[in-house]
Amino acid sequence: MSFEGKSALITGANKNLGKETALAFAKGGSNLALHYHSAKEKDALTKFASDIESEYKVKTVVISGDLTNEKDTKNLFDTAISALGKVDIAVNNVGMVLRKPLAETSLTEYDKMFDTNTKASFLFLREAANKVADEGSVIMLTTSLLAAYTDGYSIYQAAKAGVHMMCKTLSKESPRKISFNCVSPGPMDTPFLYGQETKERVEFFKTQSAYGRLTEISDIVPIITFLAKDGHWITGQNLFANNGFTAPF
Ligand SMILES: NC(=O)c1ccc[n+]([C@@H]2O[C@H](COP(=O)([O-])OP(=O)(O)OC[C@H]3O[C@@H](n4cnc5c(N)ncnc54)[C@H](OP(=O)(O)O)[C@@H]3O)[C@@H](O)[C@H]2O)c1
Repeated sequence: MSFEGKSALITGANKNLGKETALAFAKGGSNLALHYHSAKEKDALTKFASDIESEYKVKTVVISGDLTNEKDTKNLFDTAISALGKVDIAVNNVGMVLRKPLAETSLTEYDKMFDTNTKASFLFLREAANKVADEGSVIMLTTSLLAAYTDGYSIYQAAKAGVHMMCKTLSKESPRKISFNCVSPGPMDTPFLYGQETKERVEFFKTQSAYGRLTEISDIVPIITFLAKDGHWITGQNLFANNGFTAPF
């Protein structure tokens, strides 16, 4: 898919889904604002940015930030626009997962989960609503667990449900033909999942997909690029991409 002349801002672009999404946009010719959070990721992401600049002849800018912080989120969009001229596509991967019974969850854990998943998404959506170019696309990562009736994920589900609702409502409020959507992967083969899950439950998740495997990053990236281009008529939706793991009514 060609993204020539476009600029995409991707958070968490140093690894996993964010990195592969960035690569797909670069292959399509898009300029890129690449965000990372942990300071130790700076050198690797700077090298990745320089590699894609030479390979795909695109412009990049690398930006750090704690996106639970209003100043850093504002700086993310402002730096991207100042370096690339505009942001047409904004993809937010920022998230944190916790699998723990609600009765054992501390207020500190609750606050961190809502800061990382919900507050960061609010700040990102607010900047995007004001700064993404006319007819642009905003894509937020939520989770297929939103449609699961399960134990252990109450705070993650609640925090990501807030992202879904903010994104849906904002899609009706924006006057500039920007599409706002969520993408909800099923259990996806990244360390994000394994940090919270037992081997047995991962095997169980595989049995819940129609094809008998976990969601791969490569299953999700084309859905994100589709929403950013040919799928632009879709707005305010949450695409559950999980091969049968869960389905909203
Ligand atoms: N893997 C799954 O099973 C799965 C399934 C459904 C949905 N998702 C969603 O998909 C998205 C990407 O997940 P992934 O599997 O690719 O894992 P990931 O690479 O760990 O993505 C999470 C990103 O959030 C960043 N982050 C955390 N706290 C932050 C903060 N305060 N400020 C800025 N960035 C922060 C992390 O950076 P640091 O690590 O440097 O903190 C990381 O880059 C997440 O939103 C996740 O909820 C994942």
